Amino acid sequence: MLKDKILRELYKTRIMISGEALAEKFGVSRNAVWKSIKQLQNEGFAIAASTNKGYFLENCGKALSPILIKEELGESAFGKELYYFPELNSTNLKAKELAENGCAHGTVVIAASQTAGKGRLGRQFYSPREKGLYMSIVVRPEKHPGNAMLITSMCAAATAKAVEAVAPVKVYIKWVNDLFIGGKKVCGILTEAGIKLEDQSIDYVVIGIGVNCGKQTFPAELSEIATSLENEVPVPVNKNRLAAEIIKNISAGLADLESKKFLGDCRKRSNILGKPITVFRGEAQFPAIALDIDDSGALLIRTQDGQTLALNSGEVSIRL
Ligand code: BTN
Repeated sequence: MLKDKILRELYKTRIMISGEALAEKFGVSRNAVWKSIKQLQNEGFAIAASTNKGYFLENCGKALSPILIKEELGESAFGKELYYFPELNSTNLKAKELAENGCAHGTVVIAASQTAGKGRLGRQFYSPREKGLYMSIVVRPEKHPGNAMLITSMCAAATAKAVEAVAPVKVYIKWVNDLFIGGKKVCGILTEAGIKLEDQSIDYVVIGIGVNCGKQTFPAELSEIATSLENEVPVPVNKNRLAAEIIKNISAGLADLESKKFLGDCRKRSNILGKPITVFRGEAQFPAIALDIDDSGALLIRTQDGQTLALNSGEVSIRL
C-alpha cells in the first residue's frame, strides 16, 4: 500500500521529503502522495506539511502501526508473526485462539482497544481506544520452562526497561505483575498458560501486557490508582517503539530465563520490599512486611506473628 511505503520512508529518514521526491520514488502522482499523507494524518500521525518543502513526520501521535513496529523489530526472533486489530475483546483471548491453532513461538497480537481487557483475579483491564498499548505474546515451553511466576517477573523487568527506553521516567515493579510510576499503576501483566490434555504439560503461555500511554483522564474509580506515560512526561510516547522494545526484551529475557538475572532487577525496582503491605488471599486479608523475592520469584513476607511465608503470585494480591 502506498501509504505504508510513505510512512516507512518518513519514519526511517526523519527528514523533510518533498511530495515530488516521494511521487518519483514510488512511481505515483503527487496527488496520490498527498492523499496518503492525509490518510496518515487522520490515523493520528503528526506529519507536518509545508507547501514548498514537503512532508516531515514529527511523531507518531496516537497511532499504532504494525508497519512501524516491524520496522523497529528489525531481525528480532519474536514478532515475525504479528497480528494487529483496531479493536478486540482481549488480545489474550485472541492469542490463546491462535496458540490453540498452532501459531509460532513468539507470535504477537496487538489491539488499539479492547472491549473486555482481562486483568488478574478476574478483574477487567481498562483499555480505551488509542490510549494504550494492549499486546499479547505467545511462547511455547518446549523452548522455555513454563514457570509462570518466573516468566511474569522477567516480563515485568523487561517491560520496565522498555518503558524507560521510550520515556524519561523511573519505573517501579509492584510484585509481581504491575508497573508503577510514582505511586500509580501504569502497566499490568497477565500470563496465562494452556495445558496439553494428554500429559498435563504446558502447551503455551500467553503473556498479556497493557501499558497506559496516551494523555487521559481516568474514570473516577481509577483516577487515584492509575496513570499513563503521557500523564507523567511532557513528550509524546511512541507506542510502536515501545511495543518493539518490549517484544525484543522479552525475547532476550526468555532466552536467558535460566540465569534468573531479571530477579535482581525486580528486587531493585520493587516498590514494596521492606514495607508494610496488606495481603489478600481469597476472602482473607492480613498485614505483613514484604521482605524479599526468592529465586523462584515468590514474595517472602513476615506476618505479624513472626512467620516467614513465601507467596505465590497466582493466589494473592498485595496492597501497599
Ligand atoms: C492486571 O493488571 O491485572 C493485568 C492486566 C493485563 C492487561 C493486558 S492488556 C493486553 C492483554 N490482553 C488482556 O485482555 N489483558 C492483557
